[in-house]
Amino acid sequence: MSDSSFPDRNRLDMTPPAQLQAIETATRTLGFGMASVPQTGALLRSLAAAKPACRILELGTGTGIATCWLLDGLDDDGRLVTVEIDPVVQQVAKIDLGYDARISFVEQDAVSFMQHAPRSAFDLIFADALPGKFSELDDALSLLANGGVYIVDDLLPQDSWPDGHAEKVPVFIDNMMARGDLVVEYWEWSSGILLARKSGG
Ligand SMILES: C[S@@+](CC[C@H](N)C(=O)[O-])C[C@H]1O[C@@H](n2cnc3c(N)ncnc32)[C@H](O)[C@@H]1O
Repeated sequence: MSDSSFPDRNRLDMTPPAQLQAIETATRTLGFGMASVPQTGALLRSLAAAKPACRILELGTGTGIATCWLLDGLDDDGRLVTVEIDPVVQQVAKIDLGYDARISFVEQDAVSFMQHAPRSAFDLIFADALPGKFSELDDALSLLANGGVYIVDDLLPQDSWPDGHAEKVPVFIDNMMARGDLVVEYWEWSSGILLARKSGG
């Protein structure tokens, strides 16, 4: 039985952040092919907006597409740290978002960053580099505060996946679902989203 008055399609606020178009143009010029898609951006913006003074960590800035959506949801007291190993791609984000005092750009290997960052320091972690997702997962989760949200995308097949990567994805999802310390959901939506919340306490 269907109710025709009930919306049956996903509805998202896709209003783009002010800097998105400039960053997308520069991303295309650079030929960077690993940028997050708009649906993921809209979800990230909602998550950033859900917690006052949210402390966000992004692993893998790329050119700053997701960074831009995250910043758009963050309130004035929020803070965003974004880590990238490649200074060329991160420079695109710095040009368009560097004016914003809420953001800190870190040019560093995420592995080393996670080893030295304070534990439980972040309310929201967008793990968008291989380390913190397919390796060093426990290091990433140790940076999450109680009640915090860890999110990854690109779990559906992507052109940018290196050889051998496809086999790792179901293993990652199964391992996450089996953990007792997290509440985990996986959606075959957008580019493939997994969201995990660390129990408060
Ligand atoms: C999927 S892309 C990030 C896309 C970006 N977050 C966005 O939404 O458009 C992954 C990024 O992680 C970076 N990366 C890969 N290995 C890394 C490492 N060990 N430490 C930090 N960044 C790394 C890559 O250079 C690349 O820019």
